[in-house]
Amino acid sequence: MIRKPKTTVTVSAPGKVILSGEHAVVYGYPALLSAINRRIVVKVRLAKSLQVSSNHPSTTHATMAVKRILEILGSRNSKLLVSIDSNIPVGSGLGSSAALAVASSAALTKLKSKFWNLRQINEIAYRIEKLQHGNPSGGDNTISTFGGFMWYRKEVEGFKTFLQVKIKKKLPDLFLLDSGKPKETTAQMVQKVKEYYLDKPIKVRRIFQEIESITRSFLKLLLDEQEISLSELINENQLYLERLGVVSQSTSELVKIIKRNGGAAKITGAGGYKAGSGMLLVYHPEPKKLLVFAQEKKLTISRVRLGEKGVRIEKES
Ligand code: PMV
Repeated sequence: MIRKPKTTVTVSAPGKVILSGEHAVVYGYPALLSAINRRIVVKVRLAKSLQVSSNHPSTTHATMAVKRILEILGSRNSKLLVSIDSNIPVGSGLGSSAALAVASSAALTKLKSKFWNLRQINEIAYRIEKLQHGNPSGGDNTISTFGGFMWYRKEVEGFKTFLQVKIKKKLPDLFLLDSGKPKETTAQMVQKVKEYYLDKPIKVRRIFQEIESITRSFLKLLLDEQEISLSELINENQLYLERLGVVSQSTSELVKIIKRNGGAAKITGAGGYKAGSGMLLVYHPEPKKLLVFAQEKKLTISRVRLGEKGVRIEKES
């Protein structure tokens, strides 16, 4: 029986939170990441010309990513309709651009080459991320590809190590609280940290080392190897991120109030210092109090599920 070639492929990929290690991970320190229950869906089908329709993050960016992936696949002149639909907020530290790169890379590879190779999908997505961010760690695209919880490290440009973490401790309910959209892009925030690093290398290296030790403690907590307070890990991590200069005044104030009320909060990605700092990952032993607080302050809040599945095929026909 001759199989009819597939003409439509729909793929989805998750966003992420960094539990610990953002920014330090750009300098070869480890990070702990988790895929979350916010996804981007990319549908690709044969058409009369190349068209991209997107609600994410801008059609221009999505079109550029699609064209570059097709070039990498040696299929520059493909006639396709690519539809992108995302529920990962853009520029908020949840890895929206990486998820876009991963889902597009996966959908186009599947349609063009019929292969489903996660390492190849991830490698292509990393190349797209580099176009967008200049010097990404590669953590965001890797967690979006493989999903779950991940220990990630960029040893050098051409050698990145990562391992999925099988967690042994059930985490309590965690929330995403919107501290406001950053005015800066991820690339600008990474550049800001670089300038600080070049100016005060010893100081910044010390901050990275402290962050690394928090990341290791977080891993022990997930593996249930040691009784560690989740609140303390989150709050300490946030303090070092504030020292790095990636958290705005208004976000620091917000975090202080959450702490005073018995909770803990940290940014989840690149942050932002002029306006908002993106989504905060928040823990509170009494979640109801947190929800009331968010309602009073008119802040957007939602529960987040961690350890979600990586990129996957939703439909083929
Ligand atoms: O804000 P996001 O989702 O783009 O995450 C950036 C994470 C950084 O560690 C700041 C940069 C990187 O490439 O890992």
